[in-house]
Amino acid sequence: MRLCKSVNGCTKIYGIIGHPITHTLSPLIHNTLYEMLIQNNIYIPFDVSLSGLERALTGAYELNIQGINVTVPYKETVIPYLLDVEAYGKQIGAVNTLKKSKGGYIGYNTDGWGLLKSLSENDIQIKNKTVLIIGAGGAARSVAMMIAAQNPKKLFISNRTIKRGEDLANDVAYYYSIPLEICLLDSIDRIDKVDVCIQTTSVGMHPNKDQTPVHSDDFFYKIGSAVDLIYSPWETLFLKKARRAGCKTVNGFGMLFYQGIKAYEIWTEGNISKDRLDALFQMLKSNLNF
Ligand code: ATR
Repeated sequence: MRLCKSVNGCTKIYGIIGHPITHTLSPLIHNTLYEMLIQNNIYIPFDVSLSGLERALTGAYELNIQGINVTVPYKETVIPYLLDVEAYGKQIGAVNTLKKSKGGYIGYNTDGWGLLKSLSENDIQIKNKTVLIIGAGGAARSVAMMIAAQNPKKLFISNRTIKRGEDLANDVAYYYSIPLEICLLDSIDRIDKVDVCIQTTSVGMHPNKDQTPVHSDDFFYKIGSAVDLIYSPWETLFLKKARRAGCKTVNGFGMLFYQGIKAYEIWTEGNISKDRLDALFQMLKSNLNF
């Protein structure tokens, strides 16, 4: 209601494209932020078909849409339609944030940055630590590049199938010379001890709450901190098992929140104070009903 009444000819328009888009929390994050900062901006979800992706971007540009987040399944397919992509987005081959610039949109990837910020807010360090990433899909790729850039002591990549794990490890090794090892998910128990384990697959996501990609309960006693990119349910079975084994646990809401904040900062070239961010985070968290 508030948004409808405040939109006028000076309102700056932002949004998110994906398919499906019904469950996105990004409009809640950004519109609450605009409200908090009293900014004349609006953030709208757009359900776009693959065949209409290029036309949607051309239209968005002509409609003067200032910034666009990109979610599943277009983080990679959108790249050919962009003016340029910043270095980290190029490394990953995927973007989640587009900024309007003269002649088209520039692509950025703020996912890894969001994860890193969420980890630091939870006092989890990566530098000189042993890190294990579970999964080797699109989400794992942005996580792996960002983790590798922090100089971990060692990075393990564990995937259900070996080929994708190898492909990801090779791509990481192309950019970063860090100790790397791949292991099949079925053999995860042979890993001795890890400081931080980051679960990047969609296994355990609502409505499949009773699933976890790791079946051995002993495994959870070998890890210091367990991170799951999923935030619905708020605590996945993976995190529940980790918490019961004494690990520090972090879900994916922080990553979602901070990737959005980074997108805001890219779009507006502004910064938000820590006090405001903390207040916004708590406000959003208390409004979520998972
Ligand atoms: P996303 O972009 O969300 O990462 P994705 O690119 O399709 O999605 O990647 C899915 C990841 O989840 C992969 O690592 C996949 O393992 P495979 O490469 O072996 O397919 C993993 N995954 C999916 N279902 C899984 C399951 N039931 N158990 C374990 N891993 C699973």
